[in-house]
Amino acid sequence: MHNSVDQYRESARIFEHNRKYIPGGVISVNRATQPEIAFVKGSGAYIWDADGHRYIDYHAAFAPCFLGHNDPYVNEAVTRVMRDGLSLFGSGTTPLEGRLAELNCKHIPWVESVQFLNTGSEATYQALRLARAVTGRDHLIVIQGGYNGWHNDVECNLMTPLQQLGARVSPGEYPFRPISAGIPLEHQKLVHIVNFNDLASVEYVCQNYAVAGLIVEPILQNVGIIKPEPGYLKGLRALADRYGFVLIFDEVKTGFRHTLGGYAALAGVTPDLVVYGKAVANGYPIAVLGGKKHLMDWFVHPDPAKRVLLASTYNAHPVPTAAAIATLERLLMNDGEVYRHVEALGERMEQGVLAILQKSCEKAVVARQGSAFCIYFMDHCPKDWHDLAANHNFDLDNKMRQELIPRGVYFFPMATKQCSISFAHSADDIDQTLRQLKICINDILRK
Ligand SMILES: Cc1ncc(COP(=O)(O)O)c(C=O)c1O
Repeated sequence: MHNSVDQYRESARIFEHNRKYIPGGVISVNRATQPEIAFVKGSGAYIWDADGHRYIDYHAAFAPCFLGHNDPYVNEAVTRVMRDGLSLFGSGTTPLEGRLAELNCKHIPWVESVQFLNTGSEATYQALRLARAVTGRDHLIVIQGGYNGWHNDVECNLMTPLQQLGARVSPGEYPFRPISAGIPLEHQKLVHIVNFNDLASVEYVCQNYAVAGLIVEPILQNVGIIKPEPGYLKGLRALADRYGFVLIFDEVKTGFRHTLGGYAALAGVTPDLVVYGKAVANGYPIAVLGGKKHLMDWFVHPDPAKRVLLASTYNAHPVPTAAAIATLERLLMNDGEVYRHVEALGERMEQGVLAILQKSCEKAVVARQGSAFCIYFMDHCPKDWHDLAANHNFDLDNKMRQELIPRGVYFFPMATKQCSISFAHSADDIDQTLRQLKICINDILRK
């Protein structure tokens, strides 16, 4: 148990230094949380802070580390690239990028052709641009409570406060609520925000605007775990076919964590385009944009006026490319060993949390898909962001996360953020987490 200011002395010193040179002291502002902790090392299921405290990690750097931190099999592939001088890139195609492309196309039936980018945001940007180019339309549909990256089309309506959101709208759309300054108003008019699990609102937008594409996380995993209701994803497919828009699954968080092809494989629904990131290379920076060949071929369209430009210095850099190949190989080993292991741990966690909370909390549920889970303090699993914002006890959620930190368990300290179990976690890690959770919850409720 460590919670005094003294025990974060080195973290405080690092923050103080970094604040002189970095706005807020931390790169990428979504990492700015309380308490301010500087992390220095990760291995397997654990991370260590600058003051030497060890945590069982469920944050996993916003979810990429699916095999665990510093996985030896992936690291060996990366080291080989540098040792054997394979780090050349940028002059033409490489065998490595061909191998990764082949693996993706071979194991994911609806991925006929791919492009590699460095981040999920770049990939969703290109997917939406491609959708606009192919359809010749400008309007997009984005989901309230979804996150698809930092660019102008999608940097909006994530955890919109209920006071701003107002009453639930369906069928219909919510106003664009930017989560970044600097998004032109004219641009905002092209983006239409609807509830998750709400086909009527998608249809409403399609009847009123020329929609190029709809981008959706098949499970909303940036506000915990909000699953699609039966028929929702199939319904989106049907509406895309009826109204001629491009259906884009943003599987940056779900992809490779829930099966090789992501949640689409489990749902049995085929998107037109799909974006993967995060778990695809176990923490090395690469994202995949893939889909139907006739769409992807617009990146090399013979008519220059129709060609979609995709060009970037570091795309398919050999280090993350090798990491992604190794990750895929690891996921394929022993007939799904990785997925079986994390499912067993996820189930152990879910049952353990429920046993604790059902005794102490009137309202608590666990939403889980395989290795990803979220505890909600409400009486049902949410069906969309509005439902969550209206019913969840955010205060209790935040307190639980704060109290777990000095007890050596790191859930990202922001209410509704998903927890990720990795292949490196063990049943002992889960049991230790449950012991600490029980103490925390009892302490909080007693106060
Ligand atoms: C579902 C989803 N899409 C896109 C992104 C953006 O990816 P990146 O942060 O790699 O730009 C994220 C990042 O969290 C995400 O969760």
